[in-house]
Amino acid sequence: MNETLKTLTSRRSVRSYKYQQVPKEIIQQILQAGLYAPTGMNSRDTLFLVVTDKETRDKLSAMNAAVMGSDKDPFYGAPCVITVFADRTRRTFVEDGSVAMANLMNAAFALGVDSCWIHRAKEVFETEEGREIARSFGIPDNYIGVGNCILGYGDCELPKAVERTQPVIFVE
Ligand SMILES: Cc1cc2nc3c(=O)[nH]c(=O)nc-3n(C[C@H](O)[C@H](O)[C@H](O)COP(=O)(O)O)c2cc1C
Repeated sequence: MNETLKTLTSRRSVRSYKYQQVPKEIIQQILQAGLYAPTGMNSRDTLFLVVTDKETRDKLSAMNAAVMGSDKDPFYGAPCVITVFADRTRRTFVEDGSVAMANLMNAAFALGVDSCWIHRAKEVFETEEGREIARSFGIPDNYIGVGNCILGYGDCELPKAVERTQPVIFVE
């Protein structure tokens, strides 16, 4: 099978991680894939917050858990989280952020790094505390959290894919 297609179909969401940091040069390569994702009207309206600092990572994890009323780590022990933001003044901001998320996860897998999309970036960064944190990193208020891409090295086998059964309709 073509290498790209192999990556796209073999990537899985990993939900248990070793606390082993992803080297910065690998994170940079993963980010390139996010930056080169398409955006509506080429608006390039995404913004990537890369957190490897444990204190900040733990804070964001606790805030994410709080949205669910949970005290478990929603980042599953992963040491790195990239939150993708997008400029809500652009009509396609959710789509732009989402396609960047997909690129990050697929690039990570191609480079031997496990990942998972973790939801609730919007809710976390919409809180007053979340906005303060975003501002402290220079993120303007018009940027909305679209998704969190956790990155790391799984301490489990790669999960088996659930069979894809969505309808596909050919009109020939
Ligand atoms: C929009 C979106 C939100 C998701 N949120 C979470 C989440 O909060 N926690 C989680 O463990 N997985 C989350 N996932 C991962 C999905 O559960 C996962 O992609 C799905 O089960 C299919 O598994 P696969 O990625 O291994 O193919 C999310 C995926 C998407 C696309």
